[in-house]
Amino acid sequence: MRRATITGLGKYLPDKVMTNHDLEKIVDTSDEWIKTRTGIEKRRIAADDQAASDLGVEAAKEALKDAELDAEDLDLIIVATITPDMMFPATACLIQDKIGAKNAGAFDLEAGCSGFVYGVSVAANFIESGMYDNVMVIGTEVLSKILNWEDRGTCVLFGDGAGAAILSAAEKGGFLATDLGSDGSGANALYQPAGGSRQPASHETIDQAGHFLYMEGTPVFKFAVKTMGRASLKVLKKAGVKKEEVDLLVPHQANTRIIGAAAKRLKLADDQVYVNLPEYGNTSAASVPIALTEAKEKGLVKNGDKVLLVAFGAGLTWASAVLEWNDLK
Ligand code: ACO
Repeated sequence: MRRATITGLGKYLPDKVMTNHDLEKIVDTSDEWIKTRTGIEKRRIAADDQAASDLGVEAAKEALKDAELDAEDLDLIIVATITPDMMFPATACLIQDKIGAKNAGAFDLEAGCSGFVYGVSVAANFIESGMYDNVMVIGTEVLSKILNWEDRGTCVLFGDGAGAAILSAAEKGGFLATDLGSDGSGANALYQPAGGSRQPASHETIDQAGHFLYMEGTPVFKFAVKTMGRASLKVLKKAGVKKEEVDLLVPHQANTRIIGAAAKRLKLADDQVYVNLPEYGNTSAASVPIALTEAKEKGLVKNGDKVLLVAFGAGLTWASAVLEWNDLK
């Protein structure tokens, strides 16, 4: 069977660092509260003139270099984001133009923080079917631009960044299974109320702070704890991989307590779980590809390793994937 594997990875984090102490000056919070409740210590904030495509382009260029491919080799670009440059056209098209991927189709995929793992599932299927040879999946977010900086319940949690992966055809290894899920009954637990066709932008929507990210933390937390473990076990079963065989878990970085619960369910040791949440906060769809790129850079992922990706997010959604690492190098 023709398989799909990750052959290149890249990331980009904006230069500006905002610490918990910086946030203490903006809202009624403390470094201690943020660290103990979430694990976050700092996050990156994009410059005023940086949008999702600008961050995504930098991650995309790094991934192309890592895969030793030219932009013209790409058949498709999928961008996962909840903070696109504009409602339309797709941020994927803007990135396609900026990197010169003139042979690629391009579209955006919106599955909240699960978006990147949704994206690699779609990409793997395009490759396994024989339709495409090289597909780039980018997770890019500038959440700082839709946060309500007066709402301490959300503004302390998120950060900006981008990560990219290139999937190419392989004879063995690569993606063994992926699994996607959703429960739209939880849509109102995490959303941006205004700016779409339900509540078009108006003076009223601005007065009501409707263009900011809105979240009910506790139900999302409970959903995440339940879902991360369950989605991981489901994809492992699909792939015929035992949990004892997992070498590295790369989870969505939202809260160390949520990650800890998933690791416990899988009986993984701390050094089998990649965590960079203290550095970057929750970068939504960018979190898994940034973490995976760092894990690879640090030599934590080698050919033959079984790597598990799992994420949850707005929708509500969840997604998981298991790979036998094979970067064709
Ligand atoms: N600083 C200080 N106090 C705060 C802050 C803050 N930043 N935020 C909330 N509090 C207060 C609350 O007002 C509350 O006070 P009260 O008891 O006087 O009412 C108290 O702290 C406890 O609040 P809880 O919401 O119960 O705190 P909890 O332990 O549940 O942690 C948190 C909150 C961190 C948001 C948690 O619920 C969580 O992580 N939820 C999941 C969020 C998440 O992962 N979202 C990403 C989804 S992915 C995507 O698609 C974008």
